[in-house]
Amino acid sequence: MCGIVGVLGRHEVAPLILESLKRLEYRGYDSAGIATVNAGVLDRRRAVGKLVNLSDLLVHQPLPGKAGIGHTRWATHGEPNVKNAHPHRSGPVAVVHNGIIENFRALREALALEGIGHETDTDTETIALLTRHHLDRGMTPAEAVAATLARLDGAFALAFLFDGEEDLMIGARKGSPLAVGWGEGEMFLGSDAIALAPMTDRITYLEEGDWVVITRAGAEFHDLAGNRVNRPVARIRLDQTRVDKAGHKHFMAKEIAEQPSVLGAVTAFHLLPDGTDLALPAEVDFTTADRITLVACGTGHYATQVAKYWFEQLAGIPVEIDIASEFRYRQPVLSDRGVAIFVSQSGETADTLAALRHVSGKVARTIGVVNVPTSSIARETDVALPILAGPEISVASTKGFTAQLLVLLLLALKAGQDRGRLPPAMMAQHLATLKTLPGLVARALDREADIEALAQKLAETRDALFLGRGVMFPLALEAALKLKEISYIHAEGYASGELKHGPIALIDKVMPVIVLAPRDALYDKTVSNMQEVMARQGRVILVSDRAGLDEAGPVWAQLQMPSVPDLLAPIVYAIPAQLLAYHAALARGTDVDQPRNLAKSVTVE
Ligand code: M6R
Repeated sequence: MCGIVGVLGRHEVAPLILESLKRLEYRGYDSAGIATVNAGVLDRRRAVGKLVNLSDLLVHQPLPGKAGIGHTRWATHGEPNVKNAHPHRSGPVAVVHNGIIENFRALREALALEGIGHETDTDTETIALLTRHHLDRGMTPAEAVAATLARLDGAFALAFLFDGEEDLMIGARKGSPLAVGWGEGEMFLGSDAIALAPMTDRITYLEEGDWVVITRAGAEFHDLAGNRVNRPVARIRLDQTRVDKAGHKHFMAKEIAEQPSVLGAVTAFHLLPDGTDLALPAEVDFTTADRITLVACGTGHYATQVAKYWFEQLAGIPVEIDIASEFRYRQPVLSDRGVAIFVSQSGETADTLAALRHVSGKVARTIGVVNVPTSSIARETDVALPILAGPEISVASTKGFTAQLLVLLLLALKAGQDRGRLPPAMMAQHLATLKTLPGLVARALDREADIEALAQKLAETRDALFLGRGVMFPLALEAALKLKEISYIHAEGYASGELKHGPIALIDKVMPVIVLAPRDALYDKTVSNMQEVMARQGRVILVSDRAGLDEAGPVWAQLQMPSVPDLLAPIVYAIPAQLLAYHAALARGTDVDQPRNLAKSVTVE
């Protein structure tokens, strides 16, 4: 959502904060701002749009000071303009915020009765106003922040700075992540370890409800009840925080290209060294499970849709899937023998986290499938399985998706094993198949030039339809999401058999229909649906293997994939989906890594 950072430094902090914000820009890029205290005086600079605009502003209007806070915004309340940009200030206090204050209207009204008016359209300004109000009543900054926090409903990670206080910064966390970084005579605050990595590798994560008073000498942590508490310092692995493009034009291109090595790392980590069995934690046990519930958002949700097929086929266990934002509002029926799996690249998605909290204590076990091992979902599930994708910076998820799929496949195999549905010989065969995955994905990546040529055709269209059957149906949905997200072409994914129940009315001579159809058991059915499109002069782009393309006959355009085992097809067919979207976006000149209106990590409900 938004990214926040704070520095009590030994030197000028604005350049450090800018560097950190650059690393946090994936969280939002509607506006950015910095406040510092210099010679006791609080001042701020803010600019609309990407960080580069703030950077330019600082060239003309520098912001000196050795204590500062910064923010990169994904707008929730109030349009992206300078007035609504963070840091928000009221008199002697400045604050940056990630999250949503749900009771801000009531608080505003209460403040208005005391003659305190607001100037912005944001919920965040209320925090600054309240804190100032408490300071005006003679409280210390720490007392004023504590009194303010007690009145806030909703989700927040906050950093406060005060006029006249060059050695003080206060942070708070409820529902949104926040970490303290430890330096030598310097202290830091940030939304995540990636933000703090250039400055320190020693991090303390705030627990839910914590607030912290920071000076250059150290940090004093308080829990929700206000008690002084100790929180451990962890060393972060700097290789997990690298955020460079490694020679690629975009993060997305780099992340797509990394997939063979990521998938190899996933199998190396979650299988025994000799590859003869799974090596999942003991808590991952489906022996007595009577159902599996899979919850996620966006791309993660499509990964769970594929996993439903796998769990049902390999383990014969009932599976329920839902998007996290709907899950807890429909009063889902849970079983105390059930296993609930939460899939999230960031591990911080508010909807998914809320769904996890909803099932806590009501199912036998919760499992997280996450990329960020220190994230809230990783810490709050009974067992968290890393997908080992490394930092995913591009807003469009690519390597995160295929790594999620692979971990979910391993879980489905484990469920099959635990429930006696996969005898050792069959299991050995599946594990041997898994070893071929990085090579198959690399071969799919080799088709990039052909995919780019197809993307040129796609780039001219206003609408596109993706079709698939079985595990290719969720792939069609994911392909449509990727295309929408970064090229702004309107796209829909459909189960190919569903077409005749309505969407076939859309078919004309203009709209491309991309059919994902490996030569598998469902191929004939999918191709029949494809013929229905062609009979209506639809423009079909068929994505299949050599055998599938030959059998289908002439189509408007085709793309050859390697021939793949059924089990691995959804992972390999993610590659053309990603590359089609990437090259269509390039052709249209959109902002590939930071598409409009989006943010990487969605920490508000
Ligand atoms: O971090 P998460 O996996 O929980 O994020 C979920 C979605 O917000 C995310 O997958 C989103 O749909 C991506 N931008 C898709 O490319």
